[in-house]
Amino acid sequence: MAQEILFELKDVTYSYIDGGKKRVILSGLSYAFEKGKFYTILGPSGSGKSTLLALASALDKPESGTIEYEGKNIQKIGFTKYRRNCMAIIFQKYNLTDYLNGVENVESSFYITDKKAPPNKRDLSYKILSSVGIVQSKADRRVNKLSGGEQQRVAIARALAKDVSLVFGDEPTGALDTATSNEVIELFKRLSREYGKTIILVTHSDEVAASSDIALRLHEGKLEEMKGNE
Ligand SMILES: Nc1ncnc2c1ncn2[C@@H]1O[C@H](COP(=O)(O)OP(=O)(O)OP(=O)(O)O)[C@@H](O)[C@H]1O
Ligand SMILES: [Mg+2]
Repeated sequence: MAQEILFELKDVTYSYIDGGKKRVILSGLSYAFEKGKFYTILGPSGSGKSTLLALASALDKPESGTIEYEGKNIQKIGFTKYRRNCMAIIFQKYNLTDYLNGVENVESSFYITDKKAPPNKRDLSYKILSSVGIVQSKADRRVNKLSGGEQQRVAIARALAKDVSLVFGDEPTGALDTATSNEVIELFKRLSREYGKTIILVTHSDEVAASSDIALRLHEGKLEEMKGNE
């Protein structure tokens, strides 16, 4: 069966002017991400992983080259529309709304996208939270009263509520201990296996990379495959 491409970077270049000098971070980077697969991106600190995710999530524009979602240039889709309807991103520091409780954080996702919000938003939010291991008593607590692992689960539930097929993570397990990190990674795997989402996680952990379908390395401004498990 032919693999379906969901997201593609085509000849992407990006550089910074640093003290009057040009520093190339990404140079002619091309890579096609398939539907429903779990990818990790490794690379030393400063190699440009967060820069790459900033471009992939339309927070910044490449100097040259194009980024395509379902074969369409994301600039043509429109950055705001793309961010709202096509993708979700999860950070090391959760980025939840602190003064809301867990279920309100998840529910707020339904209002972000252009899709019509379902009528049973609150119930559905509890259901999604429970599917990532957050029971109702925890979901009703202000998120800054939850542990790091629990907050990251709420962040994942929020991304799930958005109902998009592309999920990015910038070191989403970076602040968690090994056991909690493993549980969170299991969740990401489930998102790709059971929900068919394409997951692209930046990580510093070889263990996390080893558990992904395809581990990539950002090296000299390009993405290289380290292994494929097929
Ligand atoms: N706004 C900016 N202006 C100038 N240089 C920047 C800017 N943002 C990042 N850089 C530089 O670009 C390089 C790549 O940064 P980036 O944050 O993408 O690295 P990273 O691979 O995510 O690193 P880490 O693993 O530490 O998070 C770094 O040398 C960084 O200092
Ligand atoms: Mg980074």
